[in-house]
Amino acid sequence: MESGDFKIFDDTITGFGCRLIPSDESQAEFVVALRNKPENRRWFINQSILSQATHLAWLANARAKGNDFNWIIELSDGEPVGTISLYNIDWSAGAAELGRLLIAEPWRGRGVAFSASRLVIDRAASAGITRIDLVVKPSNCSAIRLYKRLGFIVADTDEEIITMVKMTPSA
Ligand SMILES: CC(C)(COP(=O)(O)OP(=O)(O)OC[C@H]1O[C@@H](n2cnc3c(N)ncnc32)[C@H](O)[C@@H]1OP(=O)(O)O)[C@@H](O)C(=O)NCCC(=O)NCCS
Repeated sequence: MESGDFKIFDDTITGFGCRLIPSDESQAEFVVALRNKPENRRWFINQSILSQATHLAWLANARAKGNDFNWIIELSDGEPVGTISLYNIDWSAGAAELGRLLIAEPWRGRGVAFSASRLVIDRAASAGITRIDLVVKPSNCSAIRLYKRLGFIVADTDEEIITMVKMTPSA
């Protein structure tokens, strides 16, 4: 499968009470503010503080790659509450990574991350992606519990990083 063959990741994805909107310039302020909070930043591999300009350049580069898709998670009333991504897509291997998952504090514990992840995983499976990997810090217990509930299993672990993998239903 080639990246130019379909555009199914460019659409808004709706379901389970939330909506995934392809990330663009109009939500840059929301993403940068959410991502820069120290309590959020600490869970990411890249912990650098983002400027709006850096984020916009990064987003343009991601779009140009054709295998790096980033969404804003909105509730059904249009409230933006988080982010999620599917990236490093290897179209020929049918493999990808799930990540950049972040839910703003007031909306945590309501199943939003679970729902958004399900939407991305289902869309990936329907695009022929059969293997999804992710990385998470060993101390990030709530994220690890979430990923296990989604059906990810631990593939590799060291002091810094746990790698988890899920074979999608189309596998
Ligand atoms: C990890 C993270 C994305 C989870 O987001 P979330 O929306 O709170 O996740 P969910 O609500 O789907 O699931 C989390 C908890 O809520 C519970 N929950 C789910 N639906 C619920 C509901 N309707 N009512 C109450 N609780 C609910 C789940 O059982 C789960 O509980 P547990 O963690 O005690 O097992 C969020 O905590 C976050 O943004 N953390 C900072 C960034 C981060 O760590 N990202 C991951 C990097 S790898």
